Amino acid sequence: MSDGSNVAAIEVRDVRRVYGLGASAMVALDRVGLSIEPGRFVSIIGPSGCGKSTLLRLVAGLEPPAEGTVRVHGVSPEEACAAKMIGLVPQTPALLPWLSVLKNVSLSQKVNRAAKLHRRDPPDMLELLHKAGLGEAVHKLPSELSGGMQQRTAIVRAFGLRPAVLLMDEPFSALDEFTRESLQEQLLDLWDELKTTVVFVTHSVSEAVRLSDQIVVMAPKPGRVTDVVTVGLPRPRGRELLKTPEFHHLEDLIRDKLRGAWHAPVA
Ligand SMILES: Nc1ncnc2c1ncn2[C@@H]1O[C@H](COP(=O)(O)OP(=O)(O)OP(=O)(O)O)[C@@H](O)[C@H]1O
Ligand SMILES: [Mg+2]
Repeated sequence: MSDGSNVAAIEVRDVRRVYGLGASAMVALDRVGLSIEPGRFVSIIGPSGCGKSTLLRLVAGLEPPAEGTVRVHGVSPEEACAAKMIGLVPQTPALLPWLSVLKNVSLSQKVNRAAKLHRRDPPDMLELLHKAGLGEAVHKLPSELSGGMQQRTAIVRAFGLRPAVLLMDEPFSALDEFTRESLQEQLLDLWDELKTTVVFVTHSVSEAVRLSDQIVVMAPKPGRVTDVVTVGLPRPRGRELLKTPEFHHLEDLIRDKLRGAWHAPVA
């Protein structure tokens, strides 16, 4: 199966994850299936508590499913992590406060110099920082940065290992609209250049439509996938696209699906 060709970047099959026991048991994910091709940009959207973060943690190998399987490029998440194939951008940037921006983003390359399988040459971190608009900040400490700059640093750090799969959990949630828009553009540029598979959790419908090839809609209680919508809009997706009827049509479609997700009967 994992002969290197036609292998999905992420394959989630019949996954179930339960927290707690007995009467207080909480089905965070129920019969969740998902297949993501290499190089795709996929967003996950759904009401709070529907299991988005849980799904990311399962794909990152941070916790196991109770039932079902997760494969990343044909291997288990743990193996993929050991091979440094997975990059994770958590909701809070978690930078090391005593290291400069440049050292923070370069650290993983130093630590993982031995584990070079599955990867091309590591990118030039200084160049990536410049592309992310952090050229002036490379020698600053995290405490000297704004929240948006810290988030950009965390994104560059995650790109630093050229992971085959990049998982991002609401990375732009705390940003103002304009910073967010500019970060979306920078993320799309980096993604285009590095050809990484991205799974991006967001609560913003317009963000999901702008960024994604596909949008996975989830519903809570139990957490499950209710829809997968393909976004066929042309790329590159500049600011002008946000004003087109096609864009608004997709936003409306996703909003309807989300509304439906709240009331979707359990199959
Ligand atoms: N470690 C845990 N222990 C117990 N319950 C948990 C744990 N992690 C998540 N849950 C529960 O599982 C469900 C899914 O949580 P999860 O964090 O995946 O949701 P989410 O879709 O990411 O929500 P949000 O949009 O608010 O971030 C929730 O009901 C949550 O309370
Ligand atoms: Mg979450």
